[in-house]
Order: sequence, then structure tokens, then C-alpha cells
Amino acid sequence: MGPKKTDRQKIRGEIRIGLGSCCVASGSDDIRQAVERTVFENGLEVQLKHVGCVGMCHQVPLVEILPEGKEPTLYAKVTPGDVKKIIESHFAPPDLFKRIRNKLINAIENIQTDIHWDGIERYHLNVREKHVASFLGNQIPIATEYRGIINPLDIEEYRQRRGFEAIQRVLTKMSPEEVISEIKISGMRGRGGACFPTGLKWELVAEQKNPMKYLICNGDEGDPGAFMDRMLLESYPYRVIEGMLIAAYAVGATAGYFYIRAEYPLAVKRITRALEICRENNILGQNIMHSDFSFDIQLVEGAGAFVCGEETALIESIEGNRGFPRLRPPYPAEKGLWDQPTLVNNTETYAQIAYIIRNGAESFNKIGTQECKGTKVFALAGKIARGGLIEVPMGITICAVVEEIGGADTPIDLLTLTKAGAMMGSGGMVVLDDTDCMVDIARYFLAFTQKESCGKCTFCRIGTRRMLDILNRLCSGQGRDGDIEELENLGEWTKKGSLCGLGKTAPNPVLTTIRYFRDEYEAHIKGKCPTGRCVDMIKYSINDQCIGCTLCAQKCPVGAIEFKPHEKHAIDPEKCIKCDSCRQVCTVDAVSVE
Ligand SMILES: Cc1cc2nc3c(=O)[nH]c(=O)nc-3n(C[C@H](O)[C@H](O)[C@H](O)COP(=O)(O)O)c2cc1C
Ligand code: SF4
Ligand code: SF4
Ligand code: SF4
Ligand code: FES
Repeated sequence: MGPKKTDRQKIRGEIRIGLGSCCVASGSDDIRQAVERTVFENGLEVQLKHVGCVGMCHQVPLVEILPEGKEPTLYAKVTPGDVKKIIESHFAPPDLFKRIRNKLINAIENIQTDIHWDGIERYHLNVREKHVASFLGNQIPIATEYRGIINPLDIEEYRQRRGFEAIQRVLTKMSPEEVISEIKISGMRGRGGACFPTGLKWELVAEQKNPMKYLICNGDEGDPGAFMDRMLLESYPYRVIEGMLIAAYAVGATAGYFYIRAEYPLAVKRITRALEICRENNILGQNIMHSDFSFDIQLVEGAGAFVCGEETALIESIEGNRGFPRLRPPYPAEKGLWDQPTLVNNTETYAQIAYIIRNGAESFNKIGTQECKGTKVFALAGKIARGGLIEVPMGITICAVVEEIGGADTPIDLLTLTKAGAMMGSGGMVVLDDTDCMVDIARYFLAFTQKESCGKCTFCRIGTRRMLDILNRLCSGQGRDGDIEELENLGEWTKKGSLCGLGKTAPNPVLTTIRYFRDEYEAHIKGKCPTGRCVDMIKYSINDQCIGCTLCAQKCPVGAIEFKPHEKHAIDPEKCIKCDSCRQVCTVDAVSVE
């Protein structure tokens, strides 16, 4: 382990290790152990720090070295084998005596101090480098403030960085009405997808006179490609809790709940621990911060269904029932959990609240567009060089996000951007390109919502099934004239006849792709998939370019190509499973796909 905090005067720098979910999945725990070992073996006087998501999830595992008085250096895609060299290139052991002693004790053969050691140079990221600068440069961290800097569970550090200042101000200087007014002026809208004005929602709950009122943080996040809330919960637990406390005070809530999907074990673990630490520090429980305000929060793990993210289904789930959405109105603000007024806000919504109170509504209000103020966190994934978690001002163009921050390989034209836009939900942004089949993509999204339909409404249950049947036919070359019109018709009825947002939005990927890429649907009706993605509609054959090198025959996993040295080869269509191996291995482009 590194030195204790009491040795701070001796500390010559800091080493930060990202411990978000992506980091952990990429092996950052092994990196942590390697760092601890190296620091111990070399007797280094450096501070080791675990930080949350840095946002650069495409570069994990990440290690940042901050030697005292020198520029920080961020290392990406680090392996445990790199750690020793990286650390030793920044921090030589304290003195010659210690160096020799460590050498003897730990049998370190070679202490590497050359900063330009080849093996690590390629991982070195400088924040001033163009690609890192463009990833970070367009962003405004509010919900993700101090990302990659703070230890998610260190409550003292959170305090040092103005944490709990907002709740303190609220409890000592503001009435609930003033808090709501501030949130209204900020122009904040819910980040859970529907964009409902947050201040107005709080006011509706505050107006209710019931003695019991509840508050829920929605951390269900089941939409494909989204991981914003997971990262916020894992990396900034106190910020979300502070937002919930401010909201609870403003609306007069008596008890609070985190609803977090069970598939997010790290988020569940961090929030559970953060809640305990808050209780130990008088941030939760009776007479919070010695005020008259008492409030506590408990955590409920999500039932695993996408529809449970819908606020009324979520309420049913907390009550122990099956997650069926309820008919609205009445809205939860009037009649929610256990039939009492309930405030349901998204995780990111709560994560923005402390900033607004601390810095004033105007500072938030001046970011963004006329209708949408502040910032939005996006989970960026797909056909881009730099995926991860980003926080950008509302109104930024998709182009700026995809090209400058995401670093898409080729300039993206308007249609491709529309493809990305058409799939954008509450913040999960999956970037596609012209090698993706739009009919197949629409089928993928519809298959997801169809499977997740709770079955309560006929149109959502059967309409989506019928639409999926048509898409399956189209993708297997069985399309018929009239299929596009039938999809449009069913899509409109499903939107109209569904009770909740799941059914109301399920047809969107189909309807928008028909609107923008109708020619791709028409091609499928004629039995052709323009991108070749729909494997049922393509056929592999060998053309006259073949030089008889036999590579494809050696590579084919099912023996569909007979081994005939120096002769033109042929593919047996009965055996071919369309794995594409032959095309990839052929050096003379002799494998055709039609
Ligand atoms: C099928 C479906 C799934 C939803 N999933 C989520 C979710 O995972 N997280 C979330 O905050 N809101 C989700 N919502 C929206 C919630 O119903 C609700 O509007 C939101 O939590 C309100 O928070 P906000 O006002 O802060 O945006 C979902 C809605 C539907 C229809
Ligand atoms: S629209 Fe679909 S998911 Fe929503 S209540 Fe109806 S059947 Fe269930
Ligand atoms: S790899 Fe190409 S050139 Fe070689 S045998 Fe196969 S098709 Fe012919
Ligand atoms: S596509 Fe795959 S299965 Fe078909 S012939 Fe080529 S290697 Fe064999
Ligand atoms: S989870 Fe590690 S950088 Fe995002």
C-alpha cells in the first residue's frame, strides 16, 4: 500500500486508477494491484487514488500519474506488465540507499527511469494532444464534474470540492418554495427521456397535502447502448444523493428510494456504501446537518425488465408487484408509491441539481438552447474511435459529438447522422455507418422492444409481433409488395393504441428508417440487401480471378470449398454457412458476394 495520509508532507505525487465498470471489466483491478506492489517495492512516497469513470471508456484501463509540480500524464490501455516501467519512469525511489535496499529486498533487477521507454510510449496520452483535447474539449462537466479526479466514496474529498454545500445552503437559507423557484428559473428538464420541466414536477408534488410523500431516483436504464446512469451512480454517488436530498426538502418527501437495475452490481455496491457513509456523517437520517429536516433513502434492485424503467411500472415493482405500467393520470406526483404523492426523477436529473443551487440558476440557464438548458450526458458507442461517457451542452450538433468527440473515422454525412439521430433515446448514442443495414437495425430494435413488452396492451403485444414478422421476412428475402405500407400502418396504430412509452415509441426505429431509407426497404422486397448484412439474402461464389491458391479451401470451416491446387475453386452453396472467411482470406478478390 502507499503511504498514509499523515505522511502527506513527504508525498511526491499521486497515481490515479480508474475504477468504473468499464475500467474494472478491462482489468483495472489487476492494474491496481500492480501499482500497489510497485509503489511498495520501490518505497515510493506517492498517494494512490481510486477514481470513477474518466469518461474515456474506449481507452481503459487508465492510469494517471501526477508527479508533484509537474504535468500530469494519462496512460491508456495499460497492462499489469507496463505498470512498473510507467511508475519508475516518473518516480525514482527516494534515495540511493533506499534504492539499493529495495533492490536487495525485492530483487528488482533493473529500475527503469528512462521516460522514453519504448514499451510505454505508445500508451501515453497527453491532454493537449488533438484527439484527447477534442474528446474533452467540447465537454462541460456538471453531472460529471471532477471526473477522473475524485474517489467516488471519499466523502471528505467530496466536501473539499464543494460537495454538500448546496444542501447546506438549502437547509439553512432557503425555503422549499425558493428551491423550486430556483430549479424553475434554471430551465432544468428531466433527463429520463420525456424532458418534463423538473421545477414544475417538484411543484406538483409539493402542492400535495398528504403527510406521506415519496421520492424515487430512477436508475433502471434499460435502453440498448445506454450506460450514463450507471456511470453517474458508480462515480458520483454523493452528487446524486445530494440532488435527492435537495428535491426531498423542496417537495416535502418523507422517504426515498434508489431503484437500480440488478445488472449494475458495482453501482448497487457503491450506492449502498455511500448511503451508509452518509448516515454515519449526518447527511442522511434524523436532523440532517443539525437541521429540522430528516430523510433517509433505501435501495431497491430493479427486476430486470426494460418496462420497469417506466415510472408507474417502477412504482409497482417497488410495491412488490409485477412491473405493469399504470394508466396515467393520475400521475405519480399525485398518486404514486403506496398511492401517495411521489416524485420520480432520473439519476442524471438529480446529479445536476447541486450545481444549480451552488452556482445559481443563471449559470445553468445560460448553457444550452432556448428550450433545453444545461448539459446532457451521452453514452457514446458504435462506429467511432473514441467511445465513452461525455457531457456536452444541450444543442451541440450531432456532428460535433460524432466527429470531434467520438472521432469517427470518416467525415459523416447528413444521412448517416440522421441514422444516428434516429436511434437516439435518453442518452445512449450508437453511431452507425453505411455498412449497417437499416432494415436489420430496425429489426434489432423492434425485437428488443417486442421482447420487453409487458403484454398488457393488445397493440403493443400483437402489433409489434406482426411488425417483427414482416421485418424477419424482409431480412430473409421473403419480402412482399405492400410490406412497407403494412409496417407504416401497424406502426401508427401501435403508437396510438399503447398505454406506455414502450409501445408508443417501439415503432419509431421502423418508421424513421422507412422515412429516411425507404430505398433499402424496397431493395429488400426485391430480394437484395444493399449492404450484404442480411445473410439469408446473399450468396458466395468464386469468380474468374481465382488463381487456385487453395487458401479459401483451407480456411472454410465447413468444407464447402474443394481443395484443388492451381485450379479455379468453387463453393458448394448447400454447405456454405456464409461466414465470410473465404472472402477475407482471398488475396485476389476472387470471392464474390451477391
Ligand atoms: C419503457 C420505458 C422505460 C423507461 N426507462 C427509464 C429509465 O431507465 N430511467 C429513467 O430515468 N426514466 C425512464 N423512463 C421514463 C420514466 O417513466 C420517467 O419519465 C422518468 O424517470 C422521469 O424522470 P425525469 O423527469 O427526471 O426525466 C422510461 C419510460 C418508459 C416508457
Ligand atoms: S405499451 Fe406495451 S409495455 Fe407499455 S403497458 Fe402496454 S403492453 Fe405494456
Ligand atoms: S483464396 Fe481466392 S484465389 Fe485462392 S483459391 Fe480461394 S478464391 Fe481462389
Ligand atoms: S463463406 Fe464461409 S462457409 Fe461459405 S464457402 Fe466461404 S468460408 Fe466456407
Ligand atoms: S468506466 Fe473507466 S473510463 Fe469510463
